[in-house]
Amino acid sequence: MNSMAIEAVIREAGEIIACAKHPKVFEKEGHANFVTQTDQDVQDFLIHELSLLMPEAKFLAEEKENAVLDDSLTFIIDPIDGTTNFMHARECSAISVGIVEKREPVMAFVYQPWRKDLYFAQKGEGAFLNGQPIHVSPLPLSQAVVNVGTSPYREELRKRSMSLCGLFLEHAADIRRCGSAALDLCDVACGKAEVFWELELSPWDYAAGALLVTEAGGRIGNCEGGPLQQGGKSSVLAANSECFEQALALF
Ligand code: 2AM
Ligand code: CA
Repeated sequence: MNSMAIEAVIREAGEIIACAKHPKVFEKEGHANFVTQTDQDVQDFLIHELSLLMPEAKFLAEEKENAVLDDSLTFIIDPIDGTTNFMHARECSAISVGIVEKREPVMAFVYQPWRKDLYFAQKGEGAFLNGQPIHVSPLPLSQAVVNVGTSPYREELRKRSMSLCGLFLEHAADIRRCGSAALDLCDVACGKAEVFWELELSPWDYAAGALLVTEAGGRIGNCEGGPLQQGGKSSVLAANSECFEQALALF
């Protein structure tokens, strides 16, 4: 697996996002669920170029119909994570590309195209931002910045999210809501946040970020204390080891 060649494809795809002006917006099912023509264009570009590099690979991606994840080497792709931010020109979105084999993460890329920040992790080899090693922060929950996702797409989840935000505000230094789960997980991996949680995410939102967190020395699982199931929807809790246990107790 040639990580440099994959990175070059992802950086090129990032240019499509960074250069996009007033993309056409389409509504998907549910509340506050949108997709733009740029999401589709970036996904088409990535699948085309990555298939040339690795013809044997399968693809699980947000803006297409997907088969159930099996043991094959599979790219799990979110062409734009943080679509609402993208539609509002907030320059806070990312391409998320995770590679799994036998349903286990082996390589991860998250790319923020305006900052040109490339987060990369490989199983057993560590996590990196633009080639420099990154690590989770050692702070306890009382001093933690807690990144949260508010799950706006489902009423019962957004209500529970808001009451959990209140609880975390009482136990941590502060909370943040950035709008891209992939970048939230990168924040934990590089120590800009100690915790991230969201009550429901799709596999393409967390596939890459999960490996980045564990390779940076952190922990990730669902909010009930179980492991993440690659390939399905899940709640997600990521943190340094100390905060992970403290946060789990709050759920
Ligand atoms: P997106 O921008 O690719 O849609 C924000 O709360 C996070 O949740 C983002 O990473 C966002 O990804 C993701 N998200 C948005 N709608 C979702 C849905 N219906 N189910 C799961 N995750 C969703
Ligand atoms: Ca997306």
